[in-house]
Amino acid sequence: MKQRIGLAAALALAAGLLVAQAPAPAPAGFGGGRELQRLTGQRFSDNCSGCHGTPGAVGRAPNLFDARLLSARSDADMFRIIKAGIDGAEMPAFADMLPDDQIWQMIAWIRLEADNAQPRPAFVADPDGAEITSEAQTFRIKVLARGLDTPWGIAALPDGRLLVTERPGRLRLIAADGSMATVAGTPPVWERQDAGLMDVAIDPDFARNGWVYLSLVELQPGYQLPPPPVLKPGERPPNHPSMSIIVRGRINAAGQWVDQQLLFRAPLDRYTPSGVHYGSRLGFDPQGRLLFSIGERGDMKNAQDLGTPLGKLHRINRDGSIPADNPFVKRAGAVPSILSYGHRNPQGLAFDAAGRLWQSEHGPSGGDEINLITPGGNYGWGVVSMGIQPGIAAREAPGMIGPIAYYTPTIAPSGIMVYHGNRYPRWAGNLFVAALSGQHLRRLVLDGDRITHQEVLFKSYGRVRAVTTDARGHIIALVQQPTGQGTGQPLSAATPGLVIRLEPLP
Ligand code: HEC
Repeated sequence: MKQRIGLAAALALAAGLLVAQAPAPAPAGFGGGRELQRLTGQRFSDNCSGCHGTPGAVGRAPNLFDARLLSARSDADMFRIIKAGIDGAEMPAFADMLPDDQIWQMIAWIRLEADNAQPRPAFVADPDGAEITSEAQTFRIKVLARGLDTPWGIAALPDGRLLVTERPGRLRLIAADGSMATVAGTPPVWERQDAGLMDVAIDPDFARNGWVYLSLVELQPGYQLPPPPVLKPGERPPNHPSMSIIVRGRINAAGQWVDQQLLFRAPLDRYTPSGVHYGSRLGFDPQGRLLFSIGERGDMKNAQDLGTPLGKLHRINRDGSIPADNPFVKRAGAVPSILSYGHRNPQGLAFDAAGRLWQSEHGPSGGDEINLITPGGNYGWGVVSMGIQPGIAAREAPGMIGPIAYYTPTIAPSGIMVYHGNRYPRWAGNLFVAALSGQHLRRLVLDGDRITHQEVLFKSYGRVRAVTTDARGHIIALVQQPTGQGTGQPLSAATPGLVIRLEPLP
């Protein structure tokens, strides 16, 4: 977490220099997060450590960084106690000393600090054959393919093969026996930091029409790359204006990408040199329309601005045209493909059997979200958050839709899926969440629009980026060697990954 903020701040700075604007502060949305956390830690030392101690040192009052205490108390419980104190105990009321936003920040900070003090999950590079007994289902991990570079998106073909994207720009076709071919002639991508070839999806009528959809990041068309600078050791190359685009094409019998059509490209003045928060997950609604997410690219103002496609979920017809019932088609100045807004970096989309759209989204420091999407809804980023974010002082506001579940400390939820198959009867209708920094696959039991139970299925196979169901109803996931905290690698580093299958055991 600490590394992520440091990196983001460094890049925000680099971005500010590169676009050659007047020296500007780091864009709202990141940078400054570390300073707010430091300040919050200082407030804890000033007001609380005397009795409660610190993460490393016990005090005379209960240790607030204790995992059991933290899991027994909700944020709301802690808020009430800190604000009102405890009658008849030494715990004072802070209502007159700390404003509400500082109390919420302190609670998030306590959870982040407690998590930072925990060892990271042990990493098992080759989980093939591992047997896992979870609450409702025993299963065995089968490694289907190895040696992928930062696998990002996955789509199961009706014939049993899998399409997998690798972020550096390859589209792989993986046969049932694990043999891998590269689809030739896919479009070039801008690969830098979090950018590259992102998601892949197949048309709901794929068997008839063969369309394959890709989200990818391109360098701004017409942009002249300056000559590469001479870098000092450890220095990263500068970034340049880029943006996600959506295309579709077909794969012919010779394994070549053909018939490409461009379905979505943002106005060129929206391209930005930020290297983060591209969103880029693809999905289809029950009517067969194409959904995709685009992150706010590290500038939270974008999320509330209907004039930019950044920080939004989008809905278009499969040929790229705009559905007549999109919520903002009649709003002057609004991007007509917008389905919902106020998003930070949404990277998971899934429909349940009743047609509800579930979405996952990365929060700032803590505050990762699972949302239920209503067309036209404002999900609050830029104004409200459950995480620690400079410039955001509230957790809720009128007209803004809060998450169904949120995560502090950070788990970094990426792809999600509702399981509609019948291979694991007790998992029917559950929502599966791939977690990157949390390095786990999480199962959420849904009841209508509520989450009634959660379980982590495994957490030793590295960053989990995407999850889907194959043609035979098996759950498939993409995992990748850990990056970030404690690994010596930047959070966005490319690392080897695997395709794994969860094979049900009786
Ligand atoms: C003068 C000593 C003192 C100070 C200062 C103090 N606390 Fe406490 N606090 C206590 C004691 C003692 C308890 C346990 C009370 C009990 O359970 O009977 C407590 C309990 C709590 C609990 C509930 C713990 C649980 O069991 O779940 C929370 C949360 C908490 N304090 C937060 C804070 C925070 C945050 C601050 C600083 C803003 C703070 N406290 C400052 C003495 C203090």
